[in-house]
Amino acid sequence: MSRVKEFVEKYYVERRNTNSLKWDALEERFGNPELLALWVADMEFKTPECIREALIERVDHGVFGYTKLPKSYYDEYKNWHKKKYNIDIEKKWIRFAPGIVQAILWVIQAYTKIEDSVIIMPPVYYPFANSIRNSGRKLVESPLLEEDGKFKIDFETFEKEIRENDVKLYIHCSPHNPVGRVWTLEEQRRVFEICEKYDVFVLSDEIHQDFTYENHKQISALALDEGRYNNRLIVANSGSKTFNLASLVHATLLIPDEDVRKAFDKFSKENLGAEPSLLGQIALEAGYKEGHEWLEGLKETIVYNYNLLCEELAKNVPEIKVYPLEGTYLVFLNIEKVLNGKTTKQFIQDECGLAIDFGDWFGKGYKNYVRINLATNPENIKEAVERIVKNCNR
Ligand SMILES: Cc1ncc(COP(=O)(O)O)c(C=O)c1O
Repeated sequence: MSRVKEFVEKYYVERRNTNSLKWDALEERFGNPELLALWVADMEFKTPECIREALIERVDHGVFGYTKLPKSYYDEYKNWHKKKYNIDIEKKWIRFAPGIVQAILWVIQAYTKIEDSVIIMPPVYYPFANSIRNSGRKLVESPLLEEDGKFKIDFETFEKEIRENDVKLYIHCSPHNPVGRVWTLEEQRRVFEICEKYDVFVLSDEIHQDFTYENHKQISALALDEGRYNNRLIVANSGSKTFNLASLVHATLLIPDEDVRKAFDKFSKENLGAEPSLLGQIALEAGYKEGHEWLEGLKETIVYNYNLLCEELAKNVPEIKVYPLEGTYLVFLNIEKVLNGKTTKQFIQDECGLAIDFGDWFGKGYKNYVRINLATNPENIKEAVERIVKNCNR
């Protein structure tokens, strides 16, 4: 606890009245400004000192013109990925986007045509489905299976849906939001073998890569079988989750294959021409250089919050099913057994006063599930659990 206490004392900040989407848009998004905010995936923690200092120095310089990335940026980016994930990234693979959601839309548009089929594995981060639908592509789903208390990939359905719908693109969420899985080597191999068999292109969204726990190790799609699938792959990642930088709008696309890169560059020339974010780039370089210890403190805090939630619920309302947290800082729960005829919104929002992500945002069939953001003060998690327990036992 002492490291957690130290981390929280040093970095926790009150975010109400700071133009925070999570806290200051509660009225617009949920119709109640007083809710306890545990929804959208950002945190109540300040970024590490190294990032703030680098940003302050740049802000003091006072000029925010167009930017060119220095060698030091690429070095830190490469070091982080080499040290943590044993992948050798080449500078020529790197492209930028003002966020992963934007990048998803670009990849759909650049590598598929109108009415092509794109497959996802719900329950999954909802902008995947929205981006597919909004760009006039056909949404194909291969829902995860719930087995032995955790979510698993349904390989048979995945293959069948790809075959029957002539799927062109699969959007992989790794680690998986909201179910908290960190996909194993075997699971990813099977998925990519199927994609190879049917010539399906893959976008691997690895934004949660830096949040894995215990013996669960993140394996980037780039590292599968010595890059065997790199000719059909784009990986998207960023420091947005890792260091709480979402509003600095700086994300990376990794495109190892020359032909795939050429296609992206052609699309980019004709459609976007995005510039990298100056402050985003400075923040990420500083974080990758010196933010490791801060990240370890953060991860301990998340695990502490997860254990707190699990223990209190197991003791007081064991009917609520909590899924294992292998990765991400988002915990998925099935609250079906405590609803007693109420809707999830009536119970969680109206009775408990919590703003969370509702399960049905992530796919049909998940209306009795909720996702809670653990990257906050343990006091907020304690308060949330107390409200759930109290309202279950009323
Ligand atoms: C899987 C996943 N992808 C992308 C994003 C958002 O990325 P960005 O803010 O860079 O658009 C999130 C945010 O929660 C996420 O969970």
